[in-house]
Amino acid sequence: MVEDIHLKPCIELRNIWKGFQGPHGRTEILRGLSFSLFPRDFVGINGVSGAGKSTFLNILAALEKSDEGKVLWNDHCVCSWPAKKLSRCRASQIGFVFQSCHLVPELDVTENILLVCRIARGHVGDKDRLKVQEFLGRLGIGSQAHQLPMTLSGGERQRVAIARALMCHPEVIVADEPTGNLDESTGEQVMRLLEEICEEEHKALLLVTHHVPFSQRMKRQYRLHQGVLEKL
Ligand SMILES: Nc1ncnc2c1ncn2[C@@H]1O[C@H](COP(=O)(O)OP(=O)(O)OP(=O)(O)O)[C@@H](O)[C@H]1O
Ligand SMILES: [Mg+2]
Repeated sequence: MVEDIHLKPCIELRNIWKGFQGPHGRTEILRGLSFSLFPRDFVGINGVSGAGKSTFLNILAALEKSDEGKVLWNDHCVCSWPAKKLSRCRASQIGFVFQSCHLVPELDVTENILLVCRIARGHVGDKDRLKVQEFLGRLGIGSQAHQLPMTLSGGERQRVAIARALMCHPEVIVADEPTGNLDESTGEQVMRLLEEICEEEHKALLLVTHHVPFSQRMKRQYRLHQGVLEKL
């Protein structure tokens, strides 16, 4: 599929440079990194802690700006888009499962998931609420729909984050260590759900994980090393 040259990437990064100022001067974390994610692609990324994996994902989702290079979503360079347009498009095109869930503590599970619809479309309807119920049931947390995030276990919170990422039917799911804080069997369960839903709904999945067996289940694998992606 990826070899099909007629297939256009849904996300493309071209020659990305990103550095941070530290106590001992500036460190270049990403050094001319390029990457393409195709429709229905399943890509695994690993790399040591501090290699820049989260920075790479944040730049790809335009949550952070690069110092140099271009980020394209469906062939459109997003680098100079105003914040409002960016967050609206991001909410409908990219479902992001963050390393530490990032749920809003004051909102219950249902409202956390609906938040992404409010950002993408400005409103939510009965259909959306039904969809939330359906996702929660599928993810095995239907009875927790009205609990606050702090009353959930780590695995349950991670499943809420996955439901939120899927809510607006984005073409791409980006998951940053979605199983990092979970025990092995819960991690396997969460991972299997993520794979199943992405497969069924024809989504591209970009997975960052330290867990090599999970990464090996993806169709393509890379290691982020010395600021660039090395194909494995
Ligand atoms: N806003 C920032 N200011 C300064 N340094 C930063 C900032 N964000 C990231 N860094 C540094 O950039 C490097 C890469 O961070 P990043 O979070 O991308 O690594 P990672 O590969 O995701 O690591 P982990 O596997 O531990 O999650 C780290 O050394 C980090 O301290
Ligand atoms: Mg990280």
